[in-house]
This record gives sequence, C-alpha cells and structure tokens, in this order.
Amino acid sequence: MVKTVTDILYLISIVGFLWGLKKLSSPISATRGNQYAMAGMGIGVLVATFAPLENSFNNYLWIIIPMILGSIIGYYSAIKVKMTAMPEMVSLFNGLGGACSMFIALVEFLKYPDNTSPATTQILTTSFASIIGSVSFTGSIIAWGKLNGSLRDSFKLPAPIFVNLALLIGLLGLTAYLMLQPTLNYTLVFLQVGLSLIYGITFVTPIGGGDMPVVISLLNSLTGVAAALAGLISKEISYIMVVGGILVGASGTILTILMCKAMNRSLLNVIIGGFGGNGNSISSRQGSVRETTPSDAAIMLKYAKKVIIVPGYGLAVAQAQHICHEIEEALTAEGVVVKYAIHPVAGRMPGHMNVLLAEADVSYDNLLELEDANKEFPTTDVVVVVGANDVVNPAAKEDKNSPIYGMPILDVELAQNIIVLKRSMSTGYAGIENPLFYGEKTKMLFGDAKSSLSKLLEEIANA
Ligand code: TAP
Repeated sequence: MVKTVTDILYLISIVGFLWGLKKLSSPISATRGNQYAMAGMGIGVLVATFAPLENSFNNYLWIIIPMILGSIIGYYSAIKVKMTAMPEMVSLFNGLGGACSMFIALVEFLKYPDNTSPATTQILTTSFASIIGSVSFTGSIIAWGKLNGSLRDSFKLPAPIFVNLALLIGLLGLTAYLMLQPTLNYTLVFLQVGLSLIYGITFVTPIGGGDMPVVISLLNSLTGVAAALAGLISKEISYIMVVGGILVGASGTILTILMCKAMNRSLLNVIIGGFGGNGNSISSRQGSVRETTPSDAAIMLKYAKKVIIVPGYGLAVAQAQHICHEIEEALTAEGVVVKYAIHPVAGRMPGHMNVLLAEADVSYDNLLELEDANKEFPTTDVVVVVGANDVVNPAAKEDKNSPIYGMPILDVELAQNIIVLKRSMSTGYAGIENPLFYGEKTKMLFGDAKSSLSKLLEEIANA
C-alpha cells in the first residue's frame, strides 16, 4: 500500500516535470511551466525523504538541516542575482548537480566492505555516474569563472587536445581495470574521481569565452546523464532520478545542438576550436566612424516607415528595456512600424533578449527571429542596434580569418540606415573588431544605452 502511494506520488512528480517542460517552450507560459516543474521537484524531494520504505533513513537531521540551509542559500542567491549574471548562476548550480552524482556514486562504492566487490555492471554504471558527475562539477566551475571574468581566456594549458585525450583514455582504462579486480580497490576509485575532476578542468579551460553558452548547455546535459545513472546504481532504483536525469540530459542536448546551429559550428569545433577573444581578426573596413546626435537620430526615426530595433547584451547591462519599449510606443503613435530582431545568442543566455523585452511588456507579435528579420531588413528604413555587437558583425560573413566566420548574423546592413548605440568602440564578447561600425550607412550614437534612449525619446517628442 505504502509503495503504491509512493509510486503514485512519484508519477505526479514526473508529470509535473513534463508539463513544466511543455509550458517552458513558450515565453507566454514559461513562468507557469517553472511553477509546475518546481511543484514536481518539491513532491519528489519530500517523498524521497519521508517515504517509509525498506531503506528509510534514520539520520533525518543530516538530511533536513542541509536541505533548509540549501533552500535558504538558493532562494537568496536567486532573488539577488542580476539578469546579466544568470548564466554564471546556472553554471554554478549545474556544477553542484554534477557534484551530487559524484558523491552518490562514491557512497555507493563505499557500501562494499573489505574483500567484497559489486557486480561488474554495477561498477560500470557507478563509475560512469562518478566520472560524468565529476567532469560536470569542475567543468561548470571553470565555466562559471570564465563567465564572471575571474578566469581569462589568455590562461592556456599546454597541448590541451593531447592532455584531454590521454585523460579520457586513462579514465576508460581505469574503469575497465576496476571491473576486473576481485575486490573493490578504493585507491583506484579515488584515483578515478581525482582524474575526472582534473579532466573537467582541462576540458573546459581551453574553450573560448564566446563558446561558454554551448559548453554550459553541454555540461548541463552531462549532469542530467550523471543523475540518471546515479538513480540506477542504488539497490532500490530511483525512477524519479532516472526520469529527471534523462529529461535534463535530453533537453540539454537539444539546446546544445540548437546553439551550435545558431553559430553555424559543429560541437567538435566548439570543443577544440577555441573561438573568441584572440583578437587576430583585422577589419578590412577600418577608418573613421560617423557620429550622430540624439536629435538627428530622432528625426531619422520619426520620418521612417519601418524601424527594427536590434537588442544585445548592452541593453541588458544598461537595463534599458523599458525605455526601449517607450520609444517603440512613441514611434508607433507616429505611424511608424516598429519591430525587434532577436538573434538566438544575443546577450549572455538563451532567450536573454526575450526575457528582457517581456519584462518591459513588449508584445511577442513584434519579435522577429533571425531568418524573418533578415528578410525584413531590405525594406527597413532604420535599424537601431542597442548594445549589440557580435550578433551584427559582418565579419562572420566576409572575413574567413574571423573566429566567428560562418556564424549567422542579423544582416542589418541590408537596411537603408543603421544607428548603433554603445558607449565606445570596444569589442563585444568574442573580442573582435566590428566592420559594421565603419560602414557608410552606419551612424554611432555613443553613450550608455539607457541615457541615449532617454535623450532619443525626448527628442522624438520634440521633433
Ligand atoms: P556583445 O557582442 O557582447 O556586445 C555587447 C556590446 O554592448 C559591447 O560591444 C558593448 O560596447 C555594449 N555595451 C555594454 N554595456 C553597454 C551599455 N551600458 N550601454 C550601451 N552599450 C553597452 O553582445 P551581443 O551582440 O548580444 O552578442 C552576444 C555575444 O555573447 C556573442 O558573442 C555570444 O556568442 C556570446 N554569448 C552568448 C550567450 C547566449 S546563450 N546568449 C552566452 C554567453 C556568451 P561598449 O563597451 O562600447 O558600450
């Protein structure tokens, strides 16, 4: 009876995950989706902790105190985190998930007293949970450091491809050797964990900062796989962990593939390519830039028929989404058609621009995806680039030496006029020059995006 009730509650929890994922596929229902998934997770955690099954714990203090502490820390860090620092937080939380699978695997190994050994298949599953969890743990910590700037891309490891290959082969060989031992060899178990932790570091360190979104998504799917394996290794299989892990693994993999597609790169190229930050690409269009003023820009906008706004990371930094929406409303009131062009990797996390614009109540109907936007640029009078750089960089199309060569971009140069709002001529995340800023149709409006947009709004009202 108790087992049946427990299974039903687990099933409800799994339905919560699935329903949540379904709702997360649209920005309109995403908040609700998050709540369903949260409810599913809450039920799963409570049932796993309190269900009076055969293997029930008698050490509740050790479980409940860390759970309360973890919840308080999680709650306050989620409340305090800035939108621009969200990818770092995802990376950190993901790393902790990997560490959990690593510890579950270690505890499972430690259950075998001297002169005994688990079955070979059990050693294999537990080893993979431990290896993948450990790689995901240290890899995510390195990704976190790269995103918050504490770890620079200039920090290089010697011959990373060979080191990584040697570590991978070493880990597989060690696992095979562990399976062949008559009794479980704890020295080898700890060596396996140690090498996996090192592998996580050497795997992520050589990858450029610009590729971190793909790496985080990849590590996310690894954490899912590790959790699913960790659910399989205990005597009483934890179906909720297996299903939850598979869902995370599958969605992480899909997101990784979609992001690689958005950058027109293969996963292997991301892992060994070292994209971003090398600064070797030299623009063939360097020269002088044309500056504009808020009043000239306002006149240009007010007399346009169609305007497309291209938001980028700078919009998030300046928190200029609300004022941007006010400009859209002011121009619409003047009869101008205003739309937004969203690049899939604009900002610092998937869907970053969608979230920002949703915060400012911008209608989803006015958002154009990359391909649709590129079709509309030729009939657009003015494009306003607000704090975007890499996602509108024509070097991706015309400079074969550019590290972003081949990445699909928003082709803003097809429009009649381009106004770029940024503070200086600094590079974006990929650390490379942008020839767009020197183009004949481009005018630069220098300054913080929020203050430039405020002045622009004022001038539109007065023009
Ligand atoms: P970036 O290429 O990073 O350019 C942002 C620009 O915003 C900078 O050139 C900066 O120039 C300007 N800026 C910063 N603060 C500003 C402010 N307060 N006011 C006005 N401008 C400001 O951004 P992007 O075009 O959105 O491209 C995203 C890049 O990040 C891509 O390379 C992508 O691969 C990478 N990335 C993406 C993600 C995801 S999943 N979206 C995650 C991590 C990394 P100034 O300093 O001159 O103002």
